Amino acid sequence: MKDLKVSLGGIVLDNPVIPASGTCGFGKELSRWYDLDILGSLSFKGTTIAPRDGNAAPRVAECPAGMLNSVGLQNPGAYHAAAFELPELKSFFHKPLIANISGFSEKDYVEAVEIIQRDSAVKILEINISCPNVHGGGMAFGTDPKMAAAITRAVKRAAEKPVYMKLSPNVTDIVSIARACVDAGADGLSLINTLLGMRIDLKRKKPVLANKVGGYSGPGIFPVALRMVWQVTGAVDVPVIGMGGVSSAEDVIEMMYAGAKAVQVGAANLQDPLACKKIIEDLPRAMEEYGIERLSDIRRVE
Ligand code: FUM
Repeated sequence: MKDLKVSLGGIVLDNPVIPASGTCGFGKELSRWYDLDILGSLSFKGTTIAPRDGNAAPRVAECPAGMLNSVGLQNPGAYHAAAFELPELKSFFHKPLIANISGFSEKDYVEAVEIIQRDSAVKILEINISCPNVHGGGMAFGTDPKMAAAITRAVKRAAEKPVYMKLSPNVTDIVSIARACVDAGADGLSLINTLLGMRIDLKRKKPVLANKVGGYSGPGIFPVALRMVWQVTGAVDVPVIGMGGVSSAEDVIEMMYAGAKAVQVGAANLQDPLACKKIIEDLPRAMEEYGIERLSDIRRVE
């Protein structure tokens, strides 16, 4: 019997597979496909203090080996999420929850954290400083070490749960951002968010996305994500949740050899809602193939 358990700084997950924020809403749609209690955890849609309609359509575009999105943090706002979405989610999901929180100022992040963390099912606060699809916040905080540190410090002052900063790949040196967050008190890191990309409609001679640019995700970014996870885990001593193009049990194991303690699955859910279920069910086979008895035994390759 293979042991799939992993630990995120003492929070034990039955397995490392977590649907990534923005690819599973608040769980409802995915729960029509399978029992979500098979998951290690779930990271719900990036929640801001105020409700948001998101960006104008079109806001998705297909690409070779992935897709672009420019959703723009559409969400019902922290008060609605706490009062309605989380109670409903907890009626069918009984595992530790990861709360993905976004904002446009330190005050925004802190207020949203204060509301969402009251829910006892929320075990980790994943602070999104890497959304490429909004102006005046999001990725702007995650591409500057001083701003990333300032948000981390502000959130840490208010947080009663572990704080994982979600990092952007749209930087020349992700290690310097990771170090800034950890020095400012981050308990862990999540990486990577999407890569800024663009497509042009040749018939209309216009960008495909109404927002012109968007975040690229899917299997095409896996090697970039893996490289960044490996670089960051070699430089800081906090748990890292790895993500970016993960779509198979082998990808999960590879991420863990890059140093990740758990792994989020994003775009794959949009292509196949059963993606996480299939990966979890396939992990024992892949572990057997590579001679792994316990996932927690995996050590980062040098
Ligand atoms: O546009 C979006 O809602 C995406 C968010 C993110 O990538 O963090």
